[in-house]
Amino acid sequence: MIFETHAHYDDECFDHDRGELLAQLPSHGIKKVINVASTIPSIEKCAELARSYDHVYGAVGVHPSELEGMSEAVIEQMRTLAAWEKIVAIGEIGLDYYWEKEPAIRQKQRDWFIRQMELSREVGLPVIIHSRDAAEDTFSLMKDIHAETIPGVIHCYSYSPELAKEYVKMGYYIGVGGVVTFKNAKKLVQTVEETPIERILLETDSPYLTPEPHRGHRNDSRELVYVVEKIAQIKGMTSEEVEEVTWKNAHDLFFSGEKMKQN
Ligand code: NI
Repeated sequence: MIFETHAHYDDECFDHDRGELLAQLPSHGIKKVINVASTIPSIEKCAELARSYDHVYGAVGVHPSELEGMSEAVIEQMRTLAAWEKIVAIGEIGLDYYWEKEPAIRQKQRDWFIRQMELSREVGLPVIIHSRDAAEDTFSLMKDIHAETIPGVIHCYSYSPELAKEYVKMGYYIGVGGVVTFKNAKKLVQTVEETPIERILLETDSPYLTPEPHRGHRNDSRELVYVVEKIAQIKGMTSEEVEEVTWKNAHDLFFSGEKMKQN
């Protein structure tokens, strides 16, 4: 049983076969899926997918590269949705300096990252963090706001194995997807080697980052078998063991949030 912790099935590239694809995932062993919002309009689309399929859950948040039009009204929309049991995280949120060089806009990214972290604290949900080319600022900002008191995952982890250890110390999970199967994935392979399996989550970031041997094609959660295989190989475990432990990890992270809300 596989828990897919990060997909974007609201993406328009799934418009022609979304329903068919989502409906068949459980028969391929993909028993739970978190569809993660990135743009402002995708927040409502995520909620809609979570309403339509038992095995689909939602995360609400605005990606650092999608902040055009971001406002307190959007935070309120997220807060309202977060009260519903099928919304299990705030995300994806964070910093992306790869696409953004302008200091003022980078500051805006930091401001809304902090605001959405605060929201996660208020509503008692874990966070899904996107961080690209912003290793130092992400880590120091999280230290400053005491992110160790907010559970979460560093999604599509791309930094050093040493920094991964720091995040694990903070209580965070490390999201691993198709990149681990790429030939040039040395750093991520080393991170997987050195990170306890109890801290790793499976994710695709569909439709992006399709693993080998299908790299270059549209990604979907069925491709996670290749990620599982690769992690099993790195860790000297069976694929079944990897599925079992990462399944439990995802439950520990995303479904304790629900309990926090109910209490
Ligand atoms: Ni994503």
